Amino acid sequence: MAESFNVKLEEAKYYTPEASCKEHSWIGDYDRTYREFLANPDLFWDSVARELEWFQPWDRVKEWEYPYAKWFINAKLNITHNCLDRHVQNQRRNKVAIMWRGETEEEERILTYRQLYHAVCRFANGLSRLGVGKGDRVCIYMPLVPEQVIAMLACARIGAIHSVVFGGFGVKALNQRINGIGAKVIVTADFTYRRGKAIPLKNVVEEAVVNAPSVERIVILRRDLDKPVELHPEMEVDYYELMEGVERECPAEPMDAEDPLFVLYTSGTTGTPKGIVHTCGGYMVGTYYTTKNVFDIKDSDIFWCTADPGWITGHSYCVYGPLLNGATCLITEATPDYPNPGTYWDLIEEYGVTIFYTAPTAIRMFMRVGEEWPNRYNLSSLRILGSVGEPLNPEAFEWYYRTIGKDRCPIMDTWWQTETGMHMLTTMIGEPMRPGFVGRPLPGVVADVVDMEGNPVPPGTGGLLVIKEPWPSMMRTIWDDDERYCNYWNTIPGCYTAADLAVKDKDGYIMVIGRSDDLIVVAGHNIGTAEVESALVSHEAVAEAAVIGKPDALKGNTIKAFVILRNGHKPGEKLRNDLVYHVRMTLGPIAIPSEIEFVESLPKTRSGKIMRRVLKAQEMGMDPGDISTLEE
Ligand code: WT7
Repeated sequence: MAESFNVKLEEAKYYTPEASCKEHSWIGDYDRTYREFLANPDLFWDSVARELEWFQPWDRVKEWEYPYAKWFINAKLNITHNCLDRHVQNQRRNKVAIMWRGETEEEERILTYRQLYHAVCRFANGLSRLGVGKGDRVCIYMPLVPEQVIAMLACARIGAIHSVVFGGFGVKALNQRINGIGAKVIVTADFTYRRGKAIPLKNVVEEAVVNAPSVERIVILRRDLDKPVELHPEMEVDYYELMEGVERECPAEPMDAEDPLFVLYTSGTTGTPKGIVHTCGGYMVGTYYTTKNVFDIKDSDIFWCTADPGWITGHSYCVYGPLLNGATCLITEATPDYPNPGTYWDLIEEYGVTIFYTAPTAIRMFMRVGEEWPNRYNLSSLRILGSVGEPLNPEAFEWYYRTIGKDRCPIMDTWWQTETGMHMLTTMIGEPMRPGFVGRPLPGVVADVVDMEGNPVPPGTGGLLVIKEPWPSMMRTIWDDDERYCNYWNTIPGCYTAADLAVKDKDGYIMVIGRSDDLIVVAGHNIGTAEVESALVSHEAVAEAAVIGKPDALKGNTIKAFVILRNGHKPGEKLRNDLVYHVRMTLGPIAIPSEIEFVESLPKTRSGKIMRRVLKAQEMGMDPGDISTLEE
């Protein structure tokens, strides 16, 4: 399959970071560490896990009964003990844990580890007061404010299972997720602020609980205390009142390593959403290890992951991973282009951010508005850049590297999924970076590119990206749908299939081409939508592109492209011909779109993935299916 991917392996160039990057990094030499891991995988994870504190150690590192893995057998722990108590009891008591910024400069809050610890304990006691206990599910539907993080940690403190639903979802999506897990309590806020406007959340919750019999109480964070919204006396509880008169200490519930920590529904570019289940022990070890080693986090760092905790990226790299490492994190409710496209750069300068982790869709938006915006700010505090969510195409890589990183910051392009819980592939710090290629598996991960029978394909040939051995933070099941869990392990014998297409080069660097469901077969050739999109985006006039296949009697499918132009470029026949010529020169005649439509925007999931199936449905006059994850 996918043998026609036209990857110009020899042409790609490497960027070699300064030797000092590697010398001072936690991971040291990639190849050596990887060999150490391969020599004894259990010992490798055992020693990572020992860097954290456990109430009771494990009998064995793992048990693997295909396709079910258990990690840290019989160990007891509480993740919040490692996120909070461990730091409060040691040197980080008064270190800043969270810096939060609203949309304006006036709205700012700073919490030290000690303050965060007490806030979490108090809210945990508040939840217990409402009858929430170990194993109960709590739905968190909040704006990106410190209380969102506090609510997550408070659940974990008492062993309740949190399920965070991104604050941008509507009634139907929220209702589906509440019922999916049978939530007992919902934590929400009256409003979220976006582009200067107050957007009500409470109203959405009230509609969403109409057909949600499991819900007993709704906790509401009232943000505008001058104009407090009214609360329903039996059902609704004020966040601050709940926190009043409760103890500021709350013992951390001893959890079994395999007890669920949270359920998170995937963004669902395809089909109905799936409730991915992650457990306490393995998830803790995986996010701790990757945050430390991929971002090479040190005590002096200011870490900023721009995701919302409503996504896995936010769970793992705004909340758990950084706090497990005792880091200082920036979180913000601000949008990158409001009040102007300098907002993020302003925050980096203002807070002295050293590690900045964002998504290609944001990077391409920044490219589109031009480098004059970042150039107005002092970005010299940055030392490491990160990317996640989609392939970081070479043009975006180079722009990010040059314009934001000023040719000095390594870019950690990280490939992973909601299901994997933690980073799986990247180019570890200090290793040569190859634009367009995410890199190699992390020490701890065994990955490959294989054909449908599970045989590794030769370099340059496309195939499916698979993971060959279990890893600590892998999902354990899908909530109430174990069969769907098994499907991940049934497609290719013996492997976890990520449903991504990829290609490897001779050095083992992996290029992720796109989802395997995003393949178009044109006249018998497999063409990845992302491949054509990347070719289009490499044209100077193009800011973003999405490509779909349209059924065609002759060719099976033809390619249609939707294109957003960069500022200063006019749509028209001339440009259309230029683009066709450009794709022909880049990918060859078989990948040429037969139609190009110039558009102002593209349908995306809120995590930034283009929803090609929505474009396709529109094009074909069909029902687009589940669009609960569609942005705006
Ligand atoms: C899918 C997982 C996990 C973080 C956010 C999204 C794509 C993710 C990369 C990358 C190319 C990437 C894959 C993957 N993806 N990171 N660095 N390069 N593609 O989580 O919603 O579970 O999506 O995102 O297609 O399978 P998610």
